[in-house]
Amino acid sequence: MVSISGADADSLAEIHGEGFPKPWLASDFAALVQNRSVGAVGLRRQSAFGYSRLLGFVLFRSAADEAEILSIAVRRSHRGRGHGRLLMDEALRRLYRERIRTCFLEVDPDNAAAVSLYRSLGFADVGTRKGYYQRQGAPAGAALVMRLELQ
Ligand SMILES: CC(C)(COP(=O)(O)OP(=O)(O)OC[C@H]1O[C@@H](n2cnc3c(N)ncnc32)[C@H](O)[C@@H]1OP(=O)(O)O)[C@@H](O)C(=O)NCCC(=O)NCCS
Repeated sequence: MVSISGADADSLAEIHGEGFPKPWLASDFAALVQNRSVGAVGLRRQSAFGYSRLLGFVLFRSAADEAEILSIAVRRSHRGRGHGRLLMDEALRRLYRERIRTCFLEVDPDNAAAVSLYRSLGFADVGTRKGYYQRQGAPAGAALVMRLELQ
């Protein structure tokens, strides 16, 4: 598990683009990881030849004693191997150490993998946010809001 810097912005955008219909730009990620209220954790694989590749990341933002998961994604080719759970575990551990009491996130209720991951970590449904997901040629979809009490 590694920290992430602005130098990873291109990789973050690439991995994000594989997971979400509305990609974020590398410049968005560069700004986010430099923001003092944003935490970022990555999972990097080191090759035998010395080069390393980012396989996934999670970004979270905290204010006072609350935090929000901003985004999490794992390269498509590496999903289903426990990486998403490791990333979330590390993010939640860091937030706990920062004395964050409550962590929120928004998720598409149709995203079975993500919803199942969050439920297994103890996140509970707290409501929906209408018009959250813009969809081409269809009404915007509602997000499921989930919450985890950390302390
Ligand atoms: C969501 C995501 C980060 C999960 O990462 P991952 O590395 O594939 O997940 P893991 O292998 O660690 O699996 C963790 C848990 O997620 C759930 N899960 C993972 N893949 C699943 C699938 N295809 N169907 C149902 N549940 C699944 C399971 O609960 C799993 O726990 P288990 O292995 O004990 O059963 C990954 O699917 C992804 O990058 N998706 C695209 C981006 C995205 O949707 N992000 C979340 C937006 S809110």
